Amino acid sequence: MINNSLQHPPLRSDVKTKRRKSRIVHRFVERNLIHRISYDKYREKVRKVYGGRRGALLTKFSSISGHLQLGERLLRKRQFDPSGLRNILDIGSGAGQILGHLLKYADSQAQLTGIDISHKMLDRAQRRLKSTRVRLIAADLAQLPFPDSFFDCVTCGYVLEHLPNAYTGLAEISRVMTPGGRLLLFATEDSFSGAWTSRLWTCRTYNRRDLLGTCEEFGLTLAQELWFTRMHRFFRAGGICVELTKSGENHSPSPPISECATLDGHSTLE
Ligand SMILES: C[S@@+](CC[C@H](N)C(=O)[O-])C[C@H]1O[C@@H](n2cnc3c(N)ncnc32)[C@H](O)[C@@H]1O
Repeated sequence: MINNSLQHPPLRSDVKTKRRKSRIVHRFVERNLIHRISYDKYREKVRKVYGGRRGALLTKFSSISGHLQLGERLLRKRQFDPSGLRNILDIGSGAGQILGHLLKYADSQAQLTGIDISHKMLDRAQRRLKSTRVRLIAADLAQLPFPDSFFDCVTCGYVLEHLPNAYTGLAEISRVMTPGGRLLLFATEDSFSGAWTSRLWTCRTYNRRDLLGTCEEFGLTLAQELWFTRMHRFFRAGGICVELTKSGENHSPSPPISECATLDGHSTLE
């Protein structure tokens, strides 16, 4: 018997139908609360999710799940090399997973700042990191309390999916980055595992190509796609992991960080 799939490459329409079907399954699983309520209400929900038991579990189990080690490997193997960076912002620091790696692998003179909307997560990060080198601030990615062209590097791990659309977040990220600055971005993908992640963490997912297209609109050009493991690449289970560069020339030095405003008037945690 002749195997038809070997005779002809799959028709475009077949591929499209298959994609549409899997998207329907994803949509059924994916949580779309983010699109159903106001951003203020949604933000409160996110604070509760991370401030509560799930955030505590994330803090405790990120090393058991391998999430911590896989992230660290990207920096240890210099797939993302933080050498030479002087002023780094980590957005949505959570329990300080990425900040912990930066403390280890970035230059010792590099200034490190972490922001999060959850005060509870900032407390957890502070207790876990036990470092005076990191400045932790309560702030929202949608409205970053920093001047333009302030950081030569931004890391943003699984936070953009907590905004209804990527535009606001990417506009803010791009604004605070120096031209030529580097962005390490992790985001939940519109894959099957991403849909389950969205259900667990009450977030949305992004289509890889669409997200990279939106990044381009803000002058953030893809430098490299990163993969934690071969399994990640095959199943897209770790989401979208990319390094992007902000186009343009480098200019004006950053003002001191103490001049920055913070979320709800909450002070920095030092
Ligand atoms: C999944 S955790 C990511 C932790 C860490 N970045 C990592 O990669 O493991 C997401 C974090 O983003 C924070 N977050 C969610 N929405 C945010 C927003 N709009 N601005 C700042 N932080 C936000 C949450 O409170 C939570 O601590």
